[in-house]
Amino acid sequence: MKRLSLVWSAAMVATVALAATIPLAAAQQPNGGEKNGTPRLADLMEAAQARHIKLWFAGITGNWKLAGYQTRQIKTRLQEAASLYQSLPVDDVTTMAKPIAALTAAIAAEDSKAFVKAYGDLTAGCNSCHQEVKLGFIELRAPAANPFSDQVFGKGKK
Ligand code: HEC
Repeated sequence: MKRLSLVWSAAMVATVALAATIPLAAAQQPNGGEKNGTPRLADLMEAAQARHIKLWFAGITGNWKLAGYQTRQIKTRLQEAASLYQSLPVDDVTTMAKPIAALTAAIAAEDSKAFVKAYGDLTAGCNSCHQEVKLGFIELRAPAANPFSDQVFGKGKK
């Protein structure tokens, strides 16, 4: 009997010790929950959202190099999201290719009007996937104000 309770209490200690290490390990992970370095989908989306905002201000102020850079960032975030989260609707991923190509072309041509149109199509693409996955309440639009006041937009350095 005594032996059994000893074994039992050893198991208890082990369990308690294990439980104690779990929150510690979780706290050590960046962004409070990435598993094995895999970014969370919501975090990839938030990164895409920041670029969506920056793209707008780069484009409307004619900083075409920055606009091109932000377009590539958005493309990469969406590609990462699609390859890491294969449950995402494939059609809604691939339909993003068209507005991204249109944006790239508008930026290369330094065409403000085409840029605004392609930006609208890109945003519609974001929203259409959100609707598809029953997250229609996550609705994007062109930003009214620039929260990134620490970054220089406009035609600046080349
Ligand atoms: C193929 C589908 C798909 C596309 C395309 C897509 N999203 Fe998402 N988005 C999602 C899903 C799914 C979530 C929910 C993620 C979660 O909570 O795990 C999400 C969530 C979000 C969120 C909520 C994150 C937050 O913290 O508020 C934002 C913002 C967002 N997306 C922005 C965008 C932007 C900007 C684009 C276009 C450039 C875009 N998304 C394109 C599927 C998509």
